[in-house]
Amino acid sequence: MAGLIPDNCLEDILSRVNIVEVISAYVPLKRAGRNFKACCPFHEEKTPSFVVSADRQIYHCFGCGESGNAFKFLMRYERMEFLEAVELLAKKAGVILPESKKQDPAAVNFITQLYKLNELSGLFYENNLSLPSARLAKDYLLKRGLNEETIKLFKLGFVPDKWDMLLSHLRSKNISLSLMEKAGLVVPKDNGGYYDRYRNRIIFPILDPRERVIGFGARVLDNSLPKYINSPETPVYVKGRNLYGLNLSKDSIRELDFVVIVEGYLDVIVPFQAGLKNIVASSGTAFTPEQARLIKRYTSNVVVVYDGDAAGQIASLRSLEIFIEEEMNVKIVSLSEGLDPDSFVRKNGVDALREEISNAKSLFDYKLSILKSRFNYRNIDDKTKIAQAMLEILAKIKNAVLRSEYLKKLAQDLDIKEDALFQELKKFDTGKPSANPVAPNQRKQLNISPTEKLLIKLMLEENDLITRIKDSLHPRDFLDERSTKIVSHIFKLFDEGRSVEPNLLMSHLGSDDFSQLLCESIFMPDQLSSEEKEKVADDCVKRLKHEKSRQHRQSLEQEIKIAQNSGDEDKLQSLLQEFHGLIKKGVRI
Ligand code: CTP
Ligand code: MN
Repeated sequence: MAGLIPDNCLEDILSRVNIVEVISAYVPLKRAGRNFKACCPFHEEKTPSFVVSADRQIYHCFGCGESGNAFKFLMRYERMEFLEAVELLAKKAGVILPESKKQDPAAVNFITQLYKLNELSGLFYENNLSLPSARLAKDYLLKRGLNEETIKLFKLGFVPDKWDMLLSHLRSKNISLSLMEKAGLVVPKDNGGYYDRYRNRIIFPILDPRERVIGFGARVLDNSLPKYINSPETPVYVKGRNLYGLNLSKDSIRELDFVVIVEGYLDVIVPFQAGLKNIVASSGTAFTPEQARLIKRYTSNVVVVYDGDAAGQIASLRSLEIFIEEEMNVKIVSLSEGLDPDSFVRKNGVDALREEISNAKSLFDYKLSILKSRFNYRNIDDKTKIAQAMLEILAKIKNAVLRSEYLKKLAQDLDIKEDALFQELKKFDTGKPSANPVAPNQRKQLNISPTEKLLIKLMLEENDLITRIKDSLHPRDFLDERSTKIVSHIFKLFDEGRSVEPNLLMSHLGSDDFSQLLCESIFMPDQLSSEEKEKVADDCVKRLKHEKSRQHRQSLEQEIKIAQNSGDEDKLQSLLQEFHGLIKKGVRI
């Protein structure tokens, strides 16, 4: 990947952007000595172990091991492709990327192609809305209460009733059918050839928070079925990873510190147009942990608004427990008279919806009230059922204080002894390993010896030591392959007279393990003076060599045993000779 853009360009960019600035646009950083600290955005934690070094221009989490340079941060946090991260930071740094590289179609990654194709298709649909043949579609949208500005803002579009509207358009732009198919835009025919997936429908493009078009929803203009056709899953459209409307609502969500979640596209658009802008849609699927975490970037407070006629309410409530597992607050509104948010706002106005939202019930209260209306809680069997269903939620609350408050409340409400409920709750916890086990610092262990890490650290800190180390060690003297790779790269950069900096190494070497190893090395605690560093380096070199010979001797012994057992005299003799040679050199075990 890194090979597509010349190294000097990457170096240029990295030397001009400040990683502290880049990261603090997403994570609140606090100064801590020479570094900056925060709670890690890549794993759950309460005390900060995420460190950003301004000197080294890298970040590292001591909790989960995630680490890298500015490119890597954007790739992980914003889910960017490498090229996208480079383009973004190049712009920020005022570095001009070589045109030929940028436009070489082979160089543009497949994912980037999908985004571009989606964008192109979205524009096509959008423009179609002003065709004469789109009159009905336009009227339909206006009839549903949308104004021109809203139609534009949500980039709504239309596709006329033909089998190949989009297909021929994209063909004329030299886009391959196979790419169109992979983007889910066309469907293969049984007897060969392709046709448009969406025909004679209004198009709702689905954008991610970074305004990239990831997929489409398409609605009929009448009552025919299916009402909606959606993009199939593609590498850029993974259901349950996104929320419709978030690109437009994220600022308002952050500002108001809560999000309103509805089901449908129009349930977002109509309230949004009326001024309720902190709103997104789940598009009728169950919530996923990824969606919960996506929301958590902006707020921890969720209000879910259900249509009044929402069938199977209890089942859909279960999916809300995801938010509890993510330690978020979730409340519920159920609209009356079978209205959905769209029709509710058009009938009663947006302030009436705001009123409903401010009276939302907590998931706990809501579930309890539904259960009580369904079961007869004076009957012992039913009461047990209610308690059992409620304990399911309680078991997911991580905060012990909150949990015991709810337990007390439940005991009072159902008139059960608190202690009895508590006993049941305990069974619950152990009976079923919690659905989403709290992963305490899922730190990935590299298991690389401190000697190797220390040597890498020393070479990065004192480039002068590189010659000294290079004279006595070969990269393969490092026992771990990853160390070998890093060290040979350090030697290579040094020989070419280029600067040897960890963030450059990271962009050259790419993979996560290398970043982590570099960071684990750099952040090894030590207080050595320059002279001491030399001595320590010599010491480490000796230790590595010794370790290498020790391993050599062990494997020789193994081979000798095998040769003895198989009676291979010639082999045995030559092995023994080698072995005695080693002993003379004084290798002990
Ligand atoms: N949905 C879908 N496929 C369907 C029906 C619904 O993907 N066949 C999704 C859509 O995202 C839709 C949401 O579920 O917006 C809610 O469905 P529904 O309430 O039936 O539609 P509305 O959004 O109310 O659509 P409209 O108001 O246009 O009738
Ligand atoms: Mn509707």
